[in-house]
Amino acid sequence: MSVSAGPSSVNGPHSATKGRGVAILGCTGSIGETTFNVLEGLEGQAHDIRVVGLSAGARVEELIERARRWHPEVVCVAESAAVERVEAELPDCEVLCGESGLHELVLRDGIDVVVNGLVGAVGLMPTLAALDAGRDVAMANKEPLVMAGGLVLERARQAGARLLPVDSEPSAMWQCLRGERIEDVSRLILTASGGAFRGRERRELKQVTPEQALHHPTWSMGPKITIDSATLMNKGFEVIEAAWLFSVHVDAVDVVLHRESIVHAVVEFIDGAMLAHMGRTDMALPIQYALTEPGRMPGPLAPLNLAEVGCLHFEAPDLTEFPGLALCYQAGRAGGTVPAALNAANEEAVAAFLAGEIGFLDIHQINERVVADHSRQEADDLERIMAADAWARQQARSVISTLL
Ligand SMILES: NC(=O)c1ccc[n+]([C@@H]2O[C@H](COP(=O)([O-])OP(=O)(O)OC[C@H]3O[C@@H](n4cnc5c(N)ncnc54)[C@H](OP(=O)(O)O)[C@@H]3O)[C@@H](O)[C@H]2O)c1
Repeated sequence: MSVSAGPSSVNGPHSATKGRGVAILGCTGSIGETTFNVLEGLEGQAHDIRVVGLSAGARVEELIERARRWHPEVVCVAESAAVERVEAELPDCEVLCGESGLHELVLRDGIDVVVNGLVGAVGLMPTLAALDAGRDVAMANKEPLVMAGGLVLERARQAGARLLPVDSEPSAMWQCLRGERIEDVSRLILTASGGAFRGRERRELKQVTPEQALHHPTWSMGPKITIDSATLMNKGFEVIEAAWLFSVHVDAVDVVLHRESIVHAVVEFIDGAMLAHMGRTDMALPIQYALTEPGRMPGPLAPLNLAEVGCLHFEAPDLTEFPGLALCYQAGRAGGTVPAALNAANEEAVAAFLAGEIGFLDIHQINERVVADHSRQEADDLERIMAADAWARQQARSVISTLL
């Protein structure tokens, strides 16, 4: 499965940033909220970005509030039951719903860049639709790249659209790699905070609650990614994501624990030089860069004071303490539909953990079991990927039902 457009798909020709039309998918989430903060800052600097479309899931009141502030032409909600209420509140705005609504939204005229802040596999179809229509996608939503990275990059390449990394570590790599040749790179290094339970031994985690796991030491994010950070699945997914985005093997992507979350990624070159990207622990930086690149604008955050930061710490992750990370490397090496199966199992397991149905350590047991039982197929076809996703969800749910 070596379908990849490589760094050219993220470094290709850019469209002018002035007067750009933006759609924000998942505008009620953590990425959505930070994107609005960035837009406020850019608006204050007369950087003309128009919000054409917004989408939300269940948080309809927040969507209405955002739409009143940003005046999109079109919004999309997850459930049809919410359509009437949103129409009544936003009489000048078209209201769409469900997956077909997301698809329709990203095809609207006047959208130059789609900020994808959806969580999970639900973001795959609108990403493909936007890329097929030649729109750039500023991609925070990593799960579609884990499940179908080759396909997504191939569709971007075919349509001449770009995937702009927003996830902070791939964005950091992208920024370090600009003007460099990928063949001069020896290693890509992602940093990981270690999540809510860093420093704790695995055997201590059997009884931890969702509330404890949701307490991230350095980042403020949505619930799914916060649990993925505690299991280090998030970092494993970033390894697969970075391998796709920059056309390298997963084994060329290393992870180092870095508790301060100030260095986001490091690129090591064949001459031994290492370029690191540093910045505050805030998604405003990568989101704004995706919207203004290749240029930069003053951002909403004060720069870091390195003297105040003082020390930075780095250590190797213990893969026995974080077996989720090892499982992601295993899935990335296997390729084909295995990462899609792992992603789907993990989505089901995390949802069950958050619902209080299973324990924290069960998440890994479920993921491992589904990957072990999965019959790998090539991932060059969307139907096969979606079939692997559906199969893995069903398998995961049947394991979960034995744990209830
Ligand atoms: N948060 C971060 O700092 C961060 C950093 C790097 C990467 N990421 C990645 O960015 C993505 C978003 O993360 P997040 O933390 O922003 O998540 P989040 O706070 O949970 O937000 C997710 C958004 O997606 C919407 N949504 C969820 N399920 C949906 C569905 N079935 N149909 C339509 N909309 C749906 C939610 O709508 P409602 O809330 O209205 O239900 C919300 O707007 C994830 O893939 C994550 O890995 C996040």
